[in-house]
Amino acid sequence: MLVSGTPYRTIWLHDKAVRIIDQRRLPWTFDLLDLHTTAEVAEAIRDMAVRGAGLIGATAGYGMWLAAQEATSPDELQSLADSLIRTRPTAVNLSWAVHRQLAAIQAAGFENRVATALATAQAIADEDAAACAAIGRHGLAIIRDIAARKPGQTVNILTHCNAGWLAFVDHGSATAPIYAAHAAGIPVHVWVDETRPRNQGARLTAWELAQQGVPHTVIADNTGGHLMQHGQVDLVITGADRVTRSGDVANKIGTYLKALAARDNGVPFYVALPSSTFDWTLRDGVQGIPIEQRGDDEVTHMEGITTGGTVETLRIVSPGSPAANYAFDVTPARLITGLITERGACPAEEPAICGLHGQETAQHLTPSIS
Ligand code: MRU
Repeated sequence: MLVSGTPYRTIWLHDKAVRIIDQRRLPWTFDLLDLHTTAEVAEAIRDMAVRGAGLIGATAGYGMWLAAQEATSPDELQSLADSLIRTRPTAVNLSWAVHRQLAAIQAAGFENRVATALATAQAIADEDAAACAAIGRHGLAIIRDIAARKPGQTVNILTHCNAGWLAFVDHGSATAPIYAAHAAGIPVHVWVDETRPRNQGARLTAWELAQQGVPHTVIADNTGGHLMQHGQVDLVITGADRVTRSGDVANKIGTYLKALAARDNGVPFYVALPSSTFDWTLRDGVQGIPIEQRGDDEVTHMEGITTGGTVETLRIVSPGSPAANYAFDVTPARLITGLITERGACPAEEPAICGLHGQETAQHLTPSIS
C-alpha cells in the first residue's frame, strides 16, 4: 500500500537483512529497521516493532531463514525455532509459519536448509499478500450489498485495532474490503476505535487510512455502542489473531464488547482473516486460546507528540495504582455474522469453515473441555 504515494510492503529482504517498518515509531516517524539475527527478529516481534497476526507470521518465516544460517545442527535449529514461537502467544500465524519452515527443511534435508528456508519465507509473505487481496474481493461484495440498500449514501464501517496492511504483508484483512470499496467508487467512511492500551487504531489504522485517502474518524473505544444505537454503523469488520474450527475469534481486547453491541443493535459483525489464522486443533476459543498479558506500563503510560514535535511518554494513571493488561479477548462464534477468508465468506460455523478448507482441517483436534 502507499506511504506518501510510494508503494510499500511491511517486510522485505535488503542485502543480507530482513527489513521492516518499525511500527513502534508510527505515526510520528516512518522508520525502517534491518534485522540480522534470529535474536533481533525475536525482539522485534516481542517488542512489537512488527505486530498483527499475518505480519508476525511472515516475520517469523524470515526469522527462520536467519535461524537456518545460524544453526549448525537440527537441534540448534529447533531451539532457535522455539525462541521465535515463545515471543507472543495468541496469534497462531507465528507458530504456523515456524512449523511450516521446520517441515519444509525436514523434507528438503538439513544441508539444504538455507535455500529452502528462503524460498519458504518468500512464499509465506507472498501468500499472505495474495490472501489479503482475495479477502478484499470477497468483502467488497458485502459492502456493495449494503451500499445498494442505501443508494447515494455513505457506508459507515467500524473497525477495532489495526487489521490493516501494517498487520500483514500488504492490503490488510479487515481493511482490504474497505480499500477495495474505496477503489470501486463506493462512498465509505471508517469509524476507527482508538484501541487502548497501545492505540493501534488511533496510531496505525488512522495513519494508513489517511495515506490511502479513505475518509475516517477516530473514536474513543467506548463510543461504538452509542453510534450503533443511532444507526451510524452499517457494518463492523475486525481482524483476528486466532480462530477456532468452530468460529470463535481471538482478537484485540475490546472486540467482544463491540460484537455484543452489534448483536443488540442488529449491525452485521464480520471477521476477516487469512486461513493461516485458523487453529484447527481447537473448538472452544474461550477455554482454549492463550491470552497474552503484557506489561502494565502500556496501561499506565501513553506516548504522544507535543505541539513542538517532541515524542513524549506520560503517566496517565494515579501513581501507585496497579494495572492489568490483557491484550486479547475471545468473541464467541454465535455473535459473528460471518468470516471473510481468501476462499470466500462463510458463517462462523464448523461445517461451513471446514467445508471451505477440506483436508487442512483434519489435524489433531484437542479434545474439547465441556
Ligand atoms: O497486539 P497486536 O497489535 O499484534 O494485535 C493484533 C492486532 O493487530 C489485532 O488484534 C488485529 O485486529 C488482528 S491481527 C490482524
